Amino acid sequence: MPESTAPASTTTEPTAPAPAVTEPAAPARAASEPAAPEPAAVNIAEKLSQFGELWSQKRIAVLNDYEVKVAKLKGEFVWHTHENTDELFLVVAGRLTIQLRDGDVVLGPGELFVVPRGVEHCPVAHEETAILLVEPAGTLNTGDAGGPMTKPAESLA
Ligand code: NI
Repeated sequence: MPESTAPASTTTEPTAPAPAVTEPAAPARAASEPAAPEPAAVNIAEKLSQFGELWSQKRIAVLNDYEVKVAKLKGEFVWHTHENTDELFLVVAGRLTIQLRDGDVVLGPGELFVVPRGVEHCPVAHEETAILLVEPAGTLNTGDAGGPMTKPAESLA
């Protein structure tokens, strides 16, 4: 009885190695850089309780090249423009009117507005109001206007 001697067909195409899927490498932290701080919530109310000064921005967080800042306002600021950046205002407590040449935007707690770059604005608060701001690091509070209310953002302890 003849035996089948044909070998079983085995196709052995070489298989390409699967491409490695990797996250972009995080930049190496230099040995001289301080270790990252312990993860912890930033409590906005607690930050606001640390100061009473009006019209003075306090930095509470940094993301990429942006800063999150808080400030207490009462009265009217100065008309000014930020030629190179939008500016986000979020009211934490109180009430803020952002005067614009095209009309006012009134914000209560939990409401935000982004002033587009190049748009002249002047915040006014008839009662003491606490706000949170998001904008690029180094953005001056008075924009192009300058004057005595110009003040760089400060860090809180
Ligand atoms: Ni502004």
